[in-house]
Amino acid sequence: LPEGIEAHRGAVLHFLDDPGNDSDPASGSIEYFEDGLLLVHDGKVAMVGDAEALLPRLPNATRLTDWDGGLLMPGFIDTHAHMPQLPVMASYGTQLLDWLENYTFPHESRFADRDWARTQADQFIQLLLAHGTTSGLIFCTSHPASVDALFEAAEHQGMAMSAGKVMMDRHAPDTLTDTARSSYDDSLALLEKWHNRGRQRYTITPRFAATSSPEQLELAGQLAQAHPDVLVQTHWAENEGEIQWTRELFPDRSSYLDVYDHYGLLGANTVLAHGIHIDDRDRQRLAETGSRIAFCPTSNTFLGSGLFDLASARSAGVKVGLASDVGGGTSLSMLATMAEAYKVCRLRGQTLTPWQAFYLATLGNARVLHRDQEMGNFRTGQQADFIVLDQSASPLLAMKAPYCQTLAETLFNLMILGDDRAIAATAISGTIRYRRATAALPESS
Ligand code: GUN
Ligand code: ZN
Repeated sequence: LPEGIEAHRGAVLHFLDDPGNDSDPASGSIEYFEDGLLLVHDGKVAMVGDAEALLPRLPNATRLTDWDGGLLMPGFIDTHAHMPQLPVMASYGTQLLDWLENYTFPHESRFADRDWARTQADQFIQLLLAHGTTSGLIFCTSHPASVDALFEAAEHQGMAMSAGKVMMDRHAPDTLTDTARSSYDDSLALLEKWHNRGRQRYTITPRFAATSSPEQLELAGQLAQAHPDVLVQTHWAENEGEIQWTRELFPDRSSYLDVYDHYGLLGANTVLAHGIHIDDRDRQRLAETGSRIAFCPTSNTFLGSGLFDLASARSAGVKVGLASDVGGGTSLSMLATMAEAYKVCRLRGQTLTPWQAFYLATLGNARVLHRDQEMGNFRTGQQADFIVLDQSASPLLAMKAPYCQTLAETLFNLMILGDDRAIAATAISGTIRYRRATAALPESS
């Protein structure tokens, strides 16, 4: 083992592949060390293994952090969230279209102010770290400066973000609308500035069909075709009113999905948020094109949008990621998001195992974002973006922890009862960027 290695001791869990959704994980899909060691060198994972076996092999000067029974996992990844919507969270009483008009658009208008954008982007990044989220696919606003603000804040922490300027040229206040041409030019300039600068990736971001003219979608599609390594993100089939309105706006298209298809916006680089009210033809087209869905359970229940059909998506071969959709979502915590996903599945007569849930939040989401060569698990050479989970972080978790006898029970307890308090620490490329201020419980004496 090389000099300069750093060692973190705790329980270590990560996924090597999709564990499936049966009560036992698919063979070879997980690696777990009850008393493990995560070795970091130059910001990357050097090795994971059994502490007893690895400790004698460490060079003498190795810095060893003992996380005292904490569970080390790859950092969570959020495949859909809105940086400018933090204060839009917990807005009372509306469904999607009224929520956009009454709460979201007025708030996003404030991002014309650069300083406001910077403050909010910093706060967003800090909050992600405090919730154990180390990477994500993020909407900014239509103001280019909001994208600079987000990437600058992410870069400052070494975080790998994918994000873009919202393209929207109609059906919104003129404090937010761009034009087809300006949205293309601004997106291209931001793409040239930020795409592949360090760990940052630009993302082409038409808000959704209803706030884009056909010309704007056409140009967004052209931009995507010209940059085949750039992701595309938008919203799709979230709410009945939205779907009806989209049909009226694009009467020549055979379905909502066909709008995006027509303008060249589907493909393996595309992440569609929601995808609730869809049919088998849609699923087949998603599978054919490799387009992905970001499942946003806390948003879908909060806004009364509907219950995503995870089992049908999986069996049609559609790649699905898990996402907070803050500020429609009610928590930045991927643990809380897993809990809500489980409940949505139950209401659909389905289930979501803790294996599948933790897979989705880590390696599964990395795959959705084409980042699995960089993050999502502890394979040697991955960036050492990791979190330390505290299985007795809150009074409730601590109450239940002694009853959890298996790893599956421990994980399920964390995802159902856990929240940001369960994040003891968050590291980016091996550097601790967040540490919970105080123990949730007094130290036992
Ligand atoms: N559809 C169009 N814009 C938005 C948004 O900001 N949030 C959600 N949840 N859906 C949208
Ligand atoms: Zn959204």
